[in-house]
Amino acid sequence: MLVFKILLCFFETVKTMSILLNNLTSKITENKTVILDSIEKVLSSGWVILGPEVKKFEEAFACYLGAKYCIGVANGTDAIELALKSFDISKSDMVATVANAGAYTTNAILAIGAKPFFLDVNSETFNTTIDEVFRAIKAGVKAVVVTHLYGLAIQEIEEIAKLCSKHSIYLLEDCAQSHGAKVNNKFTGTFGDAAAFSFYPTKNLGALGDGGAVVTNNAEIATKVRGLRQYGWTTKYRIEISGARNSRLDEMQAAILQIFLPNLDLMNEKRRQIAKRYSNEIKNTLVVTPKNIAENYIAHLYVIKSKQRNALKESLKSKQIASEIHYPIPDHRQPLFGTQYKDLILKNTEELSNIILTLPCYPEMPEKDVEKVIVTVNEWNP
Ligand SMILES: Cc1ncc(COP(=O)(O)O)c(C=O)c1O
Repeated sequence: MLVFKILLCFFETVKTMSILLNNLTSKITENKTVILDSIEKVLSSGWVILGPEVKKFEEAFACYLGAKYCIGVANGTDAIELALKSFDISKSDMVATVANAGAYTTNAILAIGAKPFFLDVNSETFNTTIDEVFRAIKAGVKAVVVTHLYGLAIQEIEEIAKLCSKHSIYLLEDCAQSHGAKVNNKFTGTFGDAAAFSFYPTKNLGALGDGGAVVTNNAEIATKVRGLRQYGWTTKYRIEISGARNSRLDEMQAAILQIFLPNLDLMNEKRRQIAKRYSNEIKNTLVVTPKNIAENYIAHLYVIKSKQRNALKESLKSKQIASEIHYPIPDHRQPLFGTQYKDLILKNTEELSNIILTLPCYPEMPEKDVEKVIVTVNEWNP
């Protein structure tokens, strides 16, 4: 029995990655006192959902972004769904989305009963392009969702917004991975008709539970989302908005988000420094790293390309370094759709899904771990 326990212990240790993709422990430990204080404050207020802390966070986040309204909701997927509903997207409407962003938007579109129109992406930026958006508009979409993937803001977002506006098409920015990323000194989330944010714990601005928000400069959209997140009420128990449900941000998460928000730019800079080191110091002819790490990239995920990425993943694993594929199955190839999109080819999206690999990158990542990742990738020779 003892031998079995020792063996089990040994295998558990081997199995455990010493370098994780993202590790929240130090962030939580460093902020533990203020976190506990803010929870204590909420507890003694006796108000735990959609109260003063949510209101304060909504104001602070809108102010940070330079937007007029922020409406806290339960998570990022709800933020996308409720924003689309505020655009009056309903059953049988077509909504454009990329197919390389984990299917969150696709799920939101399907939850409404609308139909996704899939956009391809640029192989260098992983983001969609104005040409793809134009293709979707010509095909008759009622709204376009663009995702600033991996924390890289879409450089041509301003032009995309103008194009959508010219054709009276709603534009929603999915900013779940781009909190604090800027294009021409303007934050992502302020270019479209509305933006959806997720505060999932590992996001650049993360809560310690689920959370999300819709951000907009449009008063009508803001009012609709406020109603949609709470049963369609315009005032208590008076329902005027259809398609609504319960999707509220809780007071503890809102209080915790207020602790992390003032650190967002600094934490983004720390991520960017790690990304810069990777891009400068990873030198392996089998690996392509992201270039031009600038303010439009807040390094939510650091994603490299390699034709032999599965072998690289294994090699990293053998050195207890975690890596991940974001995302392995393009949305239109999800088993959920069966053969529905069998004739749809999204060349870049499909190729990328076979060669991308995410390396560990988070603000508190110790230098020695960054060093170990670089050395391991450089020494990799399959
Ligand atoms: C690009 C993107 N959009 C939307 C979401 C959905 O956010 P949530 O997990 O809070 O529902 C995520 C979260 O992982 C995401 O990465």
